[in-house]
Amino acid sequence: MEGITGYIFRNVYNRFFGGIDRFYSPFIPTSQKDKLPPKYRRDIDPENNRGITLIPQLLSKDPIRTAHTAVKLCTEYGYGEININCGCPSGTVTAGGRGAAMLADTGALDAFFESLFKELETAGPEGGRVPEISVKTRIGMSFVSEAEDILKVYNRYPISTLIIHPRLKDEYYGGSVHMDVFDHMYEESTHPVIYNGDIKSPQDYEKIFKDHPGIQAVMIGRGLLADPALAERIKGTEADGTYISRLKEYVRALCDAYFSVYKDERNTLFKMKELWNFLASNTKDSEKTLRLIRRAHDLAEYKATVNRVFDTE
Ligand SMILES: Cc1cc2nc3c(=O)[nH]c(=O)nc-3n(C[C@H](O)[C@H](O)[C@H](O)COP(=O)(O)O)c2cc1C
Repeated sequence: MEGITGYIFRNVYNRFFGGIDRFYSPFIPTSQKDKLPPKYRRDIDPENNRGITLIPQLLSKDPIRTAHTAVKLCTEYGYGEININCGCPSGTVTAGGRGAAMLADTGALDAFFESLFKELETAGPEGGRVPEISVKTRIGMSFVSEAEDILKVYNRYPISTLIIHPRLKDEYYGGSVHMDVFDHMYEESTHPVIYNGDIKSPQDYEKIFKDHPGIQAVMIGRGLLADPALAERIKGTEADGTYISRLKEYVRALCDAYFSVYKDERNTLFKMKELWNFLASNTKDSEKTLRLIRRAHDLAEYKATVNRVFDTE
């Protein structure tokens, strides 16, 4: 999740909570053919992701850059799977024809994957490893009827896994997921499918698996930020009675970790406020919590507010 689940977050999260099989990196724009800007290099550097299974995600409408960056991530950093973002609805991303905007024209989407898989064959050193390509997708731009043709494109290529978030680009993160469209894509996909969208409880997870026993996994975004123990609850591995104390430690450690890397109060505060946009929803009075956290002007004020919030939990 762009802006939130970078390596600093992943490491701290992993210290306090478990249950996650693999993390997907926030999207990496492929601005140059085979160069990764330092910010992204740091994020995927295996040294910064010890004990974490990470799948880097690329965001690009350029199949050649995508292929070369994917091969670089595989040969230089050892990543065997690279995920392609065909789902980000943000205006700045889609204005450039990337993310969910890739779904606007299925002819162009088809050409992208055709070139990508062709280029992958020759992009690396001879006899070198080529990464698997998985795709994260929405179901269309504006109409659910778009999903059918989009899936036909994916079915034509050797995609390793298709992660489906059954919302349209125009819906951003609001409204309900289109389960009927997901059902259809799940049935018709020739690739293993991962479900994504609105999993907030073990019950949500169980229902998805009960109705779609063939799915490979679920991907969880906001639900896990709101309740960091969600994956443990789903797997039944949560240690009784430790949640609040672990949550406090996790929030404190994350703030310290950001500050030790950024060495800057403003950026650290910004990051923590971003996280609380999600965390607050699991507190007793979520609106009040958010109001108080957002009001903090510096780290001292922020920490005092967090203590007050936890005192009432
Ligand atoms: C702040 C934010 C950042 C996100 N960044 C990414 C991203 O970089 N790559 C991606 O594939 N999805 C990203 N997403 C989308 C989530 O991965 C997920 O598809 C979406 O939130 C629906 O799942 P959820 O209901 O479990 O959150 C982001 C979502 C949010 C709210």
